[in-house]
Amino acid sequence: MALELVGGAFLSASLQVLFDRLASSEVLNFIRGQKLSDSLLSKLKIKLLTVDAVLNHAEMKQFTDPAVKEWLLHVKGTLYDAEDLLDEIATEALRCKMEADDHSQTGSAQVWNSISTWVKTPFVNYPSSIESRVKEMIGKLEDLAQAIDKLGLKPGDGEKLPPRSPSTSLVDESCVFGRNEIKEEMIKRLLSDNVSTNKIDVISIVGMGGAGKTTLAQLLYNDVRVKERFDLKAWVCVSEESLLVRLTKLILEGIGCATPFDMQSDNLDLLQLKLKGSLGDKKFLLVLDDVWEKGCSEWDRLRIPLLDAGKGSKVVVTTRNTKVAEVMQAVHPHHLLGELSAEDCWSLFKNLAFENGDSTTFPQLESIGRKIAAKCQGLPLAVKALGSLLHSKVDKREWEEILESEIWAGKILKFFHR
Ligand SMILES: Nc1ncnc2c1ncn2[C@@H]1O[C@H](COP(=O)(O)OP(=O)(O)O)[C@@H](O)[C@H]1O
Ligand SMILES: [Mg+2]
Repeated sequence: MALELVGGAFLSASLQVLFDRLASSEVLNFIRGQKLSDSLLSKLKIKLLTVDAVLNHAEMKQFTDPAVKEWLLHVKGTLYDAEDLLDEIATEALRCKMEADDHSQTGSAQVWNSISTWVKTPFVNYPSSIESRVKEMIGKLEDLAQAIDKLGLKPGDGEKLPPRSPSTSLVDESCVFGRNEIKEEMIKRLLSDNVSTNKIDVISIVGMGGAGKTTLAQLLYNDVRVKERFDLKAWVCVSEESLLVRLTKLILEGIGCATPFDMQSDNLDLLQLKLKGSLGDKKFLLVLDDVWEKGCSEWDRLRIPLLDAGKGSKVVVTTRNTKVAEVMQAVHPHHLLGELSAEDCWSLFKNLAFENGDSTTFPQLESIGRKIAAKCQGLPLAVKALGSLLHSKVDKREWEEILESEIWAGKILKFFHR
């Protein structure tokens, strides 16, 4: 059970050490010799597990909730004490065993004697008996466990990040850094005549969540050259769930051809005919943002009315999954959206963390900030999360704390890899 609950986090790792100790036969025998009941021991273990279950969530939440941070500090202290206690027990248990081995030549009666004297003698170094110390430990863990609900801590990764709201085509370009090269490459494609035999080319942007796919698609959608080239444009956020009817309506609405009657209708046939007719022979640009594997299964049917659009019409699809681009027969090569460059990450971070994006007044924060930005591994969403978190915070220690918290940076990235 412990293994299931223990994540990769540092605290969990030290808990794992504790559990291993608790399970070792020396410690078990010794504790039994001390007349510690098994139930006391399992109580200790249950308390440890209760705390362990919410550690992942707590490690995320500590940065936004001071009470959680405080709680984690207590957890750390208590776990160190628990480790010390078990260390002492293990050492004493070993000493006992060795002494018993030493005497093994002199007859079994004597060995038994020596073990039982040892077990009954309170250790000189121990201020109080093992039993009372284990009980005290359980009490401390109980207090910590009791605070879990109050702090809103949940097992596992805790609350998922709030779902991201549907995208629109609007973007504040002054806040976008980098991506010039891939943008120009894609614009060239958008302006070119169709390369595939499909009447409407599909062009893909593939990258992990938070990599900036939507942002890049927005840049393309709003580029003047693109605006001039296409007669009709529609931006549709597809996201996780998608329904053919809903998407067809959204496209109709996007190109400004949906009547209230259309929006009420669930008649796919009528909607498709209307869309087909509305596209006429016009050059049409459609962005399908955030298409998941489930969503792309509808593509076959969604595309039929689009085939009536004019020559040079394009669909830009953004997705986390190359398979989606394949199923939608996007023209090769797919545009794999990699990391934002270190310098662009820093610009983005600086822009958010410092007043007016000006880091020059805080040179001591700048070097820490650069390292924090670098730790985000080129993921704009992570850079933004950290930059906003440190916004107008001028205490160097707070910055260092974030920098040193490897666990957190690792977790943030893990979230978006899903
Ligand atoms: N080049 C960039 N410069 C600045 N911010 C960016 C850049 N790319 C993405 N972002 C920001 O990072 C976050 C995630 O980007 P988004 O385009 O939504 O990613 P995706 O669509 O790949 O999940 C957004 O808040 C966006 O504004
Ligand atoms: Mg997106």
